[in-house]
Amino acid sequence: MQASRLAELISRQRSGWSLEQPFYVSEDIYKFERSGWLAGQWYILAHSSELRQPGYYLVRELLGESLLLVRDEQGNARGFYNVCRHRGSRICSQDGHRKVFVCPYHGWTYRLDGSLRSAAALPIAIDQTTLGLHSIPVREFGGVIWGSLKGEVHALDAVQEAFEPGLRYYGIPSARIAARRRYSIEGNWKLVLENFFECYHCFPAHPEYCSVMKWVDWTAREPADGGVGWKEIVHKWFAEEADPDSPLKETGHALPEDILFGTSRMPIGNGRKTQSQDGNPVAPLMGQQRRFDGGVCGFFVRPFASVSALNDHGMMFQITPTGVGDTEVVLTWLVDGATSDAEIDVPRMIWLWDVTTSQDKALIERNAAGVRSRSYVPGPYSTVERVTAQFVKRYLMEQSALSEAMYSETMQVP
Ligand code: FES
Ligand SMILES: [Fe+2]
Repeated sequence: MQASRLAELISRQRSGWSLEQPFYVSEDIYKFERSGWLAGQWYILAHSSELRQPGYYLVRELLGESLLLVRDEQGNARGFYNVCRHRGSRICSQDGHRKVFVCPYHGWTYRLDGSLRSAAALPIAIDQTTLGLHSIPVREFGGVIWGSLKGEVHALDAVQEAFEPGLRYYGIPSARIAARRRYSIEGNWKLVLENFFECYHCFPAHPEYCSVMKWVDWTAREPADGGVGWKEIVHKWFAEEADPDSPLKETGHALPEDILFGTSRMPIGNGRKTQSQDGNPVAPLMGQQRRFDGGVCGFFVRPFASVSALNDHGMMFQITPTGVGDTEVVLTWLVDGATSDAEIDVPRMIWLWDVTTSQDKALIERNAAGVRSRSYVPGPYSTVERVTAQFVKRYLMEQSALSEAMYSETMQVP
């Protein structure tokens, strides 16, 4: 797509309305996003327990790129393109454990830090130190391995500072994976995020979620009391029931729409200890907690990654664009690392988010089908969809800046 055409589309966009059709269906726009804006975002790539010891590695896909995630000899998590520096072969095809990586094509070997260790019969003039695997920015903290294709590593410094004490308190670094589910959604990634950021659809679409989460009574519609009732419930919970030792002090009754990362903490409500159907625990307490307080904490890096921590389990939410019309959502449920299988009830643990995400998949796929119609035109967001509207606004502003940069590049005379 020409930069000028993209700029024209952006300028035609009405503020507070859903996006013009090409943003959801154009291969050209997706290519532009993938090499620019999407490549600069941060994603959850794995839980720390998936790279247990030096030499453990994972093969993961991000934005059409095959990546190698590995724990090196020093214990650091690293990420590399799964592309040999000889003639470009994929090096690994599945997760595993090894001391060095050996390319199956001509046998070049790489150390766990990505440097080239040996390559037979190379001309003597070739400097082998320049032939290490291409790396990607990776950060690991709080039990989560975060990665990006082009992100600035120090952009996560403030996130680490804000998240680490809470993630540690709730036992996420020492957790183990109890269950994982993948949802391949036939819909553009922005339709997935637009859905994820609003609860306008909760009453019609998510009876289970509404029956569990008390805050829905206020957040799924414009509350007649301006949200005072929910604030009172949160205030009372913090005063009487909430675990006072948690590092997360703020009430988090509503997430501000314009922030890019943050934490929240609130009661599930309705006397529930956890997000199971009957509200009763599904696993032993996690981390440093000593009792159930029925709270749920959120740690989110917008727009693609979040972690939630409850008393007895945690969850990682990974959303990844996989094509112009395809998005993968991966949910991972975590329990205390010392917990045995006999102590956990996986079906009851995954019930709420499995049923809710399956409902969202159906909603988004219907949305995507409608958006492809020749009759589709943008529609207005309601006041309950503020976070969605803010996400779209930020997306457009940042695309606009990128398309201007691309436009001035194409205009440069060599
Ligand atoms: S392509 Fe990897 S060794 Fe030749
Ligand atoms: Fe939903």
